[in-house]
Amino acid sequence: MKELTPEQIQENWNQLRQLINDTFKGERLDKLNHMYDYFEDRMCIAPASGKEHYHNAHVGGYVEHVLHVIDCAVKLKKLWEDGGATINFSDEELIFAAMHHDLGKVGDMKNDYYIPQESEWHRKNQGSIFTHNGELQYMTVTDRAIWLLQYFEIPMSEWEYVGLRLTDGLYEEANKSYYVTYNPDFSLKSNIAYILHAADSMATHIEHDKWKSVEQQEEIKVQENVENIKKAVTMEDTSKQLSEKSKDLFEELFGDK
Ligand SMILES: [Fe+2]
Repeated sequence: MKELTPEQIQENWNQLRQLINDTFKGERLDKLNHMYDYFEDRMCIAPASGKEHYHNAHVGGYVEHVLHVIDCAVKLKKLWEDGGATINFSDEELIFAAMHHDLGKVGDMKNDYYIPQESEWHRKNQGSIFTHNGELQYMTVTDRAIWLLQYFEIPMSEWEYVGLRLTDGLYEEANKSYYVTYNPDFSLKSNIAYILHAADSMATHIEHDKWKSVEQQEEIKVQENVENIKKAVTMEDTSKQLSEKSKDLFEELFGDK
């Protein structure tokens, strides 16, 4: 299982806070810092998902995922722009939406969204490392993100709202009317949602692949250990057999018989 060291968790947190201070300004920056101060203890250790085969289901996985999505979004925006796409939003808007698309995974003002899975059976058979906290009122992750931002009175632009709201793409059924329309008046008037959805998808798959390669390396290590133990046992048996044989030989040569 992939794990971050306390130093990596701290480093990711510092990186996120630095990015906030470098990207936003004025009253919005103050309000953002207020929210991030409030959630610091819980947010820096929150996972990004509950199941190990999803993505970043480890302590500190949430912040790491957010940083990955921001990084992918900035790179993809450049790719779209270089390809000739219309970019009618600022980097600040793109980063704001990427930074908060999964904010609901932090939970509400009192409770964490994910709590450790206590059932050994579910951990072993379903790879469920964290489970949903039943104390929380049900909301989609996106709805909770928007609710938390309004709780801390953090304003957002229309493109930030559209981007954040649609980052899950068509994986979220409620997004269908935004993405699938036959009326040109209703089509998306900014590429921000497509770029954010691609960035989230890209980051998620990369995180999954990294988890998989750690798992495979661990499996190889376990297999090597098993082979070494087998070899050691066989050698012990052989040396036992040899010593039995040499004992017989000694008896034959020097025995009283
Ligand atoms: Fe995400």
